[in-house]
Amino acid sequence: MSNEPKTGTTRRGFLAASTALVASATAVRAQTADPLITEVQDWASGWGAGVDETPYGLPIRFESDVIRRNVSWLTADVISSINFTPIHALDGTITPAGCAFERHHSGAIELSKEDYRLMINGLVDQELVFTYADLERFPRVTRTFFLECAANTGMEWAGAQLNGSQFTHGMIHNMEYTGITLRTLLDEAGIKPEGKWLYIEGADASSNGRSLPMEKALDDCMIAFKANGEALRMEHGYPVRLVVPGWEGNLWVKWLRRIEVTDAPVESREETSKYTDTMENGTSRKFTWVMDAKSVVTAPSPQMPITHGHGPLVITGLAWSGRGPITGVDVSMDGGKTWKPARLAEPGQPMAMSRFYFDHNWQGEEMLLQSRATDSTGYVQPTKAQLREVRGENSVYHNNCIQTWWVKPNGEAENVEVS
Ligand code: MTE
Ligand code: CO
Repeated sequence: MSNEPKTGTTRRGFLAASTALVASATAVRAQTADPLITEVQDWASGWGAGVDETPYGLPIRFESDVIRRNVSWLTADVISSINFTPIHALDGTITPAGCAFERHHSGAIELSKEDYRLMINGLVDQELVFTYADLERFPRVTRTFFLECAANTGMEWAGAQLNGSQFTHGMIHNMEYTGITLRTLLDEAGIKPEGKWLYIEGADASSNGRSLPMEKALDDCMIAFKANGEALRMEHGYPVRLVVPGWEGNLWVKWLRRIEVTDAPVESREETSKYTDTMENGTSRKFTWVMDAKSVVTAPSPQMPITHGHGPLVITGLAWSGRGPITGVDVSMDGGKTWKPARLAEPGQPMAMSRFYFDHNWQGEEMLLQSRATDSTGYVQPTKAQLREVRGENSVYHNNCIQTWWVKPNGEAENVEVS
């Protein structure tokens, strides 16, 4: 055994590794010398950029297509509208704020910390108004959560529609929030025994008023002023937004202005005519707050075709659940007939996004690629057919069905439905 390589690799492992090296090198091995290897390049022949050139950095220009995008026919105007996170082009789990989707009902507003006020009134022992500086003096917490708009995947109810995970699943982001718990402020005001609900408003013209049951408010909601370590972006509610872990994005009131303690839900526009689910029999279901377990393959996908030919292929995607940590994701390449477990990049965290990987040796075969998430309650992401049995085809919100991409022999992918 003395002639074994000293790296600790077994002989068989070493041979396999060197074969892989040859195989993957074949594609780039040229008859002539590769100037990118043999020649000194421009970027190595002089000075690079100085540290004073970019006080606050943006992604390098080669990544300029990793941006939020609209679907033009979706809403009549860009002020009461939505754009989509480029989830197809991201990896890991944290969404950079600069490309995290936006949804506002009357446009994003510019509200300074100096002009910021938060009022708590209604069924409380003492009605209070806080400035931004007041909020900063309460004990602080930091936690990571996904925010998914209830309308995410809403265009797919009646059939496969949009070509790209950005458009089918991009009304989502996952950020690390810093702020204080909602419970801290409610304790400060003192809740009267009849106070069972909160009515929560933003400072924008739409106000996006929503009723929140007290149990959830006292459980894990946050009043956040930082996301991913920096101040919230204007479009995400600067200077302060509500964080409602695992519940539909509409409840995460931005530019948070007023919290009224009430004895019953207000039944505002946003929770009656909007954000309610139509059922199979034509009636509507009241309050669907929790975002059920869901996942999507982000690559390969229509915006991320396979371009490197046959051989090793990293299949990857995202999974999340409003009920707790993701415990597993399975991948199918035959439209759900057979499933294999994917690898989670890290153990799932409650109400935060998980990244999964599935390492495949692709030989140009057609794939009906799907992913299926399971959460800590044992809930398994349903097929579209299973969801339609309960919800019919006329729903808009809360579509968490399994997504299918048809990957063709040329590596391109298309949004399809399997029956
Ligand atoms: N809060 C206010 N004040 N105004 C709004 O229009 N939109 C809601 C919610 N909070 C909204 C709001 C909706 S429908 C969603 S999905 C999320 O904010 C979107 O949050 P984001 O823009 O940070 O992605
Ligand atoms: Co929304």
